[in-house]
Amino acid sequence: MKSYKITLLPGDGIGPEITNVTQEVLELLSKKFDFQLKLKKMPFGGAAIESDGIPFPDKTLQECKNSDAVLLAAIGDPKYDQLPREKRPETGLLNLRSSLDLFANIRPVKIIPSLTKASSLKEEFVNEVDLVVVRELTSGIYFGEPKGRLKTESGERAFNTMAYTSEEVKRIAEIAFKLAKQRNQKVCSVDKANVLDVSQLWREETILVAKNFKEIDLTHQYVDNAAMQLVRNPSQFDVILTSNLFGDILSDIAAMLTGSIGMLPSASLTNDGPGVFEPVHGSAPDIAGKDIANPIAMLLSAAMMLKIAFNETYAGNHLENVIHEILTEGYRTSDLMSSGEGKEVGCSQMGELLLGKLK
Ligand code: IPM
Ligand code: MN
Repeated sequence: MKSYKITLLPGDGIGPEITNVTQEVLELLSKKFDFQLKLKKMPFGGAAIESDGIPFPDKTLQECKNSDAVLLAAIGDPKYDQLPREKRPETGLLNLRSSLDLFANIRPVKIIPSLTKASSLKEEFVNEVDLVVVRELTSGIYFGEPKGRLKTESGERAFNTMAYTSEEVKRIAEIAFKLAKQRNQKVCSVDKANVLDVSQLWREETILVAKNFKEIDLTHQYVDNAAMQLVRNPSQFDVILTSNLFGDILSDIAAMLTGSIGMLPSASLTNDGPGVFEPVHGSAPDIAGKDIANPIAMLLSAAMMLKIAFNETYAGNHLENVIHEILTEGYRTSDLMSSGEGKEVGCSQMGELLLGKLK
């Protein structure tokens, strides 16, 4: 029997609640589709600060490296905001990304038909949305040097550096083009080449990579325009290729098209080694422990893991289909209730509904 080793990182806030639901669902799927899962929970983020004094202990890194995939819920809590930057949960997440060289962050945004009313845009604008944000994840302004804070005569000066090498642009662009090949053959590269040198290089390298993908239609948008286009006419997009910071911002905008950021999964991949699968949303400390969180983004991340990391396509598709069925039947967590329609359920109740259908 096939066997897969998964490191589970429940993290903070709503993380443990949505992890419990996801774990039960995965265990049931493994029985139904005849594969074995070895799940191991490890401390990460604020939870690791509590247990080990640091957000990303070495034992957690070693477990991640030795597994077939990592499934992460969410990290962060305002109570850590005053800690020095290297001790904060977010730094743990950035270290996880760079330690595993997870340069390719894939964030699919597909409208679920039964949820078009939950979108903050009018239905006719979101009906056809099916796009993927390909975000560079281990470089750019998140990691650029020099960075820091300096005391000056007139106060402080703080700075970060947005830098890319041609190799870094090339490898993420190749991921986007390969993905577009399996989809609608369109890549829109998003930059700020009218102002930034780093974007000028980004654009030039993207055009070079496109020469090896003649069938793909490559366009370019400045990031301010792309932000506007995402709320003006989001169905124009197929694959959006962009840098770390722009991808962070644009994927939150894109997430809202689906009605709630609680719906959006992601995969962070490298060329050779385990990927990290995680919801796009954060740890939502304001609703933690109330059993009202939406577990769907994490479940859809688990479905991505089954398909991308393990090639368990049937199991992944089955999970996605069952999620769509439950939503079609009208069950919604509170984040999706804005339209006032539907039957409101909590996090664990959503889990039970899914387990009932998955069998
Ligand atoms: C994301 C998050 C992270 C990011 C934070 C938590 C560091 O917003 O994955 O989009 O900025 O990349
Ligand atoms: Mn983000």
